[in-house]
Amino acid sequence: MMIPRGAYLIVLALVLRVQGDVYLHNPRGSNNRLNENTANRQNANRAFDSQNNNRGGYNVGETNANGNTQEQNQYRMQYFASANYETMANDAGKSFYTLEWTNQHGCGGSEDTDPHKLNCNIVIQYMCQPDADTAQGDDDTIRNGENTNTQNHQPRNNENENQQQAANRKNNNVQANRFLQEQWEAYDGCYIRERNAGLFTADQKLKNNNQGYSSAIFTRQNPNGQRRGYECPEERDYYPYWHPTQWRDAAILVGDVAQCEYYQAESFNVKQAYECVEYYDNNNNQRKHASRYNNEADCTANDGEWLAFTNYLEKAPTLATEQACTQATGNGVEYVWGRPWNGNDEECLVALKAPDCQQAPWTRVNHNGNTRGGEASRYTMTLPFFPSQDTMRCAMRLRYNISTDDYDPWNTTSAQNQDTANNVQSPVQQNPYVDIGADHTALRLAINTAQTGRTFQDRSHAIKIMPRPQAAEVQAAKIYNLNVRGKRGNIVQTYPAVEYDFMPNRLEITPEDMVHIQWTGSNRHNNNAPGGDGQTGDAGEGQGGTDRSNFVQMSNSLENYPTPFNDANNMFAAAKVHWIYFDETPDITPEDLAINMASSGYYRCKNQNVCGADSVQQKNEMNNLLNNAPPSYEGALIQVPAGEHKYMSTRNNNFSNRSQKGMLKVATPTA
Ligand SMILES: *[C@@H]1O[C@H](CO)[C@@H](O)[C@H](O)[C@H]1NC(C)=O
Ligand SMILES: *[C@@H]1O[C@H](CO)[C@@H](O)[C@H](O)[C@H]1NC(C)=O
Ligand SMILES: *[C@@H]1O[C@H](CO)[C@@H](O)[C@H](O)[C@H]1NC(C)=O
Ligand SMILES: *[C@@H]1O[C@H](CO)[C@@H](O)[C@H](O)[C@H]1NC(C)=O
Repeated sequence: MMIPRGAYLIVLALVLRVQGDVYLHNPRGSNNRLNENTANRQNANRAFDSQNNNRGGYNVGETNANGNTQEQNQYRMQYFASANYETMANDAGKSFYTLEWTNQHGCGGSEDTDPHKLNCNIVIQYMCQPDADTAQGDDDTIRNGENTNTQNHQPRNNENENQQQAANRKNNNVQANRFLQEQWEAYDGCYIRERNAGLFTADQKLKNNNQGYSSAIFTRQNPNGQRRGYECPEERDYYPYWHPTQWRDAAILVGDVAQCEYYQAESFNVKQAYECVEYYDNNNNQRKHASRYNNEADCTANDGEWLAFTNYLEKAPTLATEQACTQATGNGVEYVWGRPWNGNDEECLVALKAPDCQQAPWTRVNHNGNTRGGEASRYTMTLPFFPSQDTMRCAMRLRYNISTDDYDPWNTTSAQNQDTANNVQSPVQQNPYVDIGADHTALRLAINTAQTGRTFQDRSHAIKIMPRPQAAEVQAAKIYNLNVRGKRGNIVQTYPAVEYDFMPNRLEITPEDMVHIQWTGSNRHNNNAPGGDGQTGDAGEGQGGTDRSNFVQMSNSLENYPTPFNDANNMFAAAKVHWIYFDETPDITPEDLAINMASSGYYRCKNQNVCGADSVQQKNEMNNLLNNAPPSYEGALIQVPAGEHKYMSTRNNNFSNRSQKGMLKVATPTA
């Protein structure tokens, strides 16, 4: 179609092409990878819809130097939960976790000082369930899987499926050795629920499900209903979503902070969401997990109940009555009586707070790199406090949502969908031709209406959030996580993932604070062909394909030599260890701690009378490039004396090609 003359000034101000990826670096984002030894991921539909480049992403962490990536050999990063910080002052008891990502199309900044060519927001969420280390086959357990296939989904073939048939279908679909974050019911419910017909779909033709109507798996960005994992496309594309979901909101980072009030009020964390609940005929108390009806009128007209659902941090089953539940509120924890996602009845839940909302970090358009100050985009999250003190198995999700001003995203609805019969023109059209005033010479714009206004995503592999040790000083401390990001290879081989670095590589704390040092890696980052639109290869030290890191002190960041342990300024000499992965109440000596970190956990101590077979004296010699050391180090929680402590990884740091060094700056106490 032709846009009339005169409109061309506006047209020139458009963003003609909106593409942009997002890659999580800390926690390591999978970008749908599992354990591929190729530069390209194998299956872009394995877990979720990222819309990212086929490269990028990090393999699942592994525990052993050799071995396969079966679930029991995978390493789940484990972070200490916050203590009950609501009852403490000045951030005491908080566990800080810094996410880092790169987004390709710019974000943040103010229109006056950094004019942007698009609108953007970043939504950070997590989901958790009680950790069951032994259960890998359970149909609902969060897991990475052992192969790169997508879970199955067989749609029901009639509305009258009974409870047993639904259970059988789920059982047949869900495979123990495949990725799972959203539960099967989330996707099946999405498949069956009519899509929100009020949404703007431009001139896209959305398809129908097997029952002949268009459901929530079809969206403007996903008109054909492609499935990825058990993610619901309508839920993925829109935030805040209007039906219940399993995701908890951690933060929303916006281009314009004026939007914060809206997001914080509408978040499912604090506002109930509704869903139509139908019941099995033969069992009046048992709800179906899915309903076709997406609004109250249709729901009740078809014998459904339009019920409110409440998001929650965790369940509180010991508070069995509504009265006991609500009366338990206090002492920093709010309890709420509500119906959990997919639940049948109301029960006692630990309430969530509204998500944090901030200005998104400023990044430059068309630049998948750093923000101001030379670091990639970051957000420091306070990890939750779980009153149950259970260890949780969790996953993190980050969505990067960009839209243009070609149409007002807040005010454009299905009323503006292309409808030629009724003379309605969508404000955006597929590859339109525009008249620029040169008589009949039109120019074609590259506009894909499935992609103007587009959401990108990355997610972590499974992680754990575990309770802190009970000691009062640990409960009251601020805990900072110090990890390693990156994967094996040089800059072009790893791109759009990144080379190794400590994360954060500069951390400023006080002597009262505690640091949890931990890292993970894969044995299979070979980066072989197919390499997609980038370079293959895995330049690096040590055995091909393997990630290894370690942590040794150095005296000067400009040098590339570690400090000998008996150096007077050794940070370990006066370090206090509050927890180490093999000992809840550690009495480890500073020297043994230094050995443990330098060997990535290969050795636990020096002398055989202290740790027997894991000692330097007894164990087979460690390879000097850490080839036979574990790729993941489970970590230690330490307190370090004042000073500027510089450290490095001996294996990866190679002057001029790449550096893996960091600094822990511990302030001198003021009192
Ligand atoms: C993305 O932005 C659009 C507005 O352009 C909004 O309708 C949608 O809900 C947002 N989705 C997410 C995931 O933030
Ligand atoms: C929607 O459009 C109306 C009329 O132009 C305007 O007053 C309103 O502020 C817009 N809403 C948003 C959220 O931008
Ligand atoms: C190190 O960098 C040089 C040039 O800067 C390059 O030729 C060489 O391949 C790099 N080595 C590795 C292992 O990446
Ligand atoms: C460091 O990188 C250079 C350049 O790629 C390489 O030749 C050299 O072997 C590396 N150093 C070590 C100790 O492996």
